[in-house]
Amino acid sequence: MCGIVGYVGKREATPILVDGLRRLEYRGYDSAGIAVANGQGARLVRCRGKLAALEKLLAVESPRGLTGIGHTRWATHGRPSEENAHPHKSGSVSVVHNGIVENHALLRERLTAAGRHFSSQTDTEVLAHLIDQALIDGASSLPEAVRQALRQVEGSYAIAVLSDRHHDEMVAAKKASPLVVGVGEGEMFLASDAPAILDKTRQVIFLEDGDVAHLARDQVSITNLAGQPVERRPKTVTWTPGQAEKAGYPHFMLKEIHEQPRAVTDTLRGRLMLNNGDAVLWEKEVTEIPRRMVIIACGTSYHAGLVGKFLIERVARIPCEVDLASEFRYREPVIGPGDLVVGISQSGETADTLAAMNEAKARGARTLAISNVVDSAIARTSDLALYTFAGPEIGVASTKCFTAQLTALALLAIHLGRRNGALDDIGAVRFASDLIQIPFKMSETLQLVGDLKELARKHKDAHDFLFLGRGSNYPIALEGALKLKEISYIHAEGYAAGEMKHGPIALIDDGLPVVIIATKGNSYDKVLSNLAEVRAREGHVIAVATKGDTEITKYCQDVLWVPEAPPLLQPLVTVLPLQMLAYAVAVVRGHDVDQPRNLAKSVTVE
Ligand code: AGP
Repeated sequence: MCGIVGYVGKREATPILVDGLRRLEYRGYDSAGIAVANGQGARLVRCRGKLAALEKLLAVESPRGLTGIGHTRWATHGRPSEENAHPHKSGSVSVVHNGIVENHALLRERLTAAGRHFSSQTDTEVLAHLIDQALIDGASSLPEAVRQALRQVEGSYAIAVLSDRHHDEMVAAKKASPLVVGVGEGEMFLASDAPAILDKTRQVIFLEDGDVAHLARDQVSITNLAGQPVERRPKTVTWTPGQAEKAGYPHFMLKEIHEQPRAVTDTLRGRLMLNNGDAVLWEKEVTEIPRRMVIIACGTSYHAGLVGKFLIERVARIPCEVDLASEFRYREPVIGPGDLVVGISQSGETADTLAAMNEAKARGARTLAISNVVDSAIARTSDLALYTFAGPEIGVASTKCFTAQLTALALLAIHLGRRNGALDDIGAVRFASDLIQIPFKMSETLQLVGDLKELARKHKDAHDFLFLGRGSNYPIALEGALKLKEISYIHAEGYAAGEMKHGPIALIDDGLPVVIIATKGNSYDKVLSNLAEVRAREGHVIAVATKGDTEITKYCQDVLWVPEAPPLLQPLVTVLPLQMLAYAVAVVRGHDVDQPRNLAKSVTVE
């Protein structure tokens, strides 16, 4: 979950590395560093803190050279500090690394016994020592030294390696962490994420697990760990660099909240057939009707899965369970042939979800990945992939990927329902025309909700928030609470509204803001009763309600209006005011909205 960049070419490397790191800072931000090589060897500059701290150091003295590597870190092994910041150097070798060397303790012990001295607590440093040792022991080239080292390593890695002795080349390798090579004219770029280099080149090679790439100015050659050549052709990436920037919004999160109507439209595009209400998801007809479905995911993606259960069961009438990926794999799941296991992951690289998908596959289930990243690890490991097209999501708090996931799940429900006969012709056309209206309703919601500054000021000092919802809006209550927690650092709980009287009602007093999703639909009357129970105990009620509902204002202090939508699709609009509320409270409290403390965008460790 860190960010890696690399450059070898004809220009000064430092500014190119810093620029790439700026675009990747969301992947980790507790320390940063670069190593730049020239004829005199590689020079390292690194420090604790965000990239701005590194830039300050570089303003005093910037290392010169045409080859370099850089890193932004999210600590796993060893606290955030300068000595634990990457790159790590041993002898002539400098390394940056994402992932975890699982057998690092054993390797460190062996290397220490052989007289090597370690200067950090990181697992990464063993890689620098192993490669340096391989060169000393006579490896024929830098790629060969990297291969020899990696053959001793267990775990996951994306690495970039520089050597003092080979200052106009670089080696990159990956296993279970993403890494891409950008092919330029007389120059090569390296990044853990394509947006970091898209302003430099659109020709990108997506490295695969086991690849070791040797980059020089004019060529890139790739082998496997055994040294046999493998061919990887560059692909043209169509994401513009501008898509990955803020486009005038103060924060990526706000930009991404407002991008949701587009993200949902793009996810529906070319898949939803309005004439017959079908959803065509794959070029070939590959669908087998499962006897049961299990959705596995983490965090916000898990909440999307909980809404997905409503969609799948109501539309396709297939029994569907939802499980946290981190729980699923350790509970000996009863799963096997005939089951379809759907892994939902924005990044496509969440370690728990990836491991759970592999577990499901090993037990004979068919697997389907819903991912926003094409060719992501989870997508590659699955039998089928259904991509959301939300574009790169930079804000750590997931917003547009969530609604794009709900859209993909709605499409999947239609697709299965049409094929097993659960969704008839009339129902299908009606559902498809409701779904195609959703992006417009989302735009209207964002207008109705406004910036919520006033409401945020009113509640910025609250110690707790309660979020309540019923039916498919219950997962939205969970999501609203998660959003508020992660960026405002206010404790919040999401509850099924009907459960309130079984415990949480004891919390209610005049200091507790209670957000209730009380839109028109099946359980409207029941939610009104819950609302009245809160009011009777002096709780401060903020209702998410259907535009035009005159009754609701009698029961609450504040209302966040949303347009009318069919109950099954309501989560796509009711989540928007909750995202905006979390954003507004975090801004009023002066927090770093896009990079909240202790969090990282992709959680690639268990
Ligand atoms: C969302 O706001 C969170 N940052 C987090 O819960 C996230 O959804 C979770 O880590 C799962 O990530 P994934 O979708 O990339 O697998």
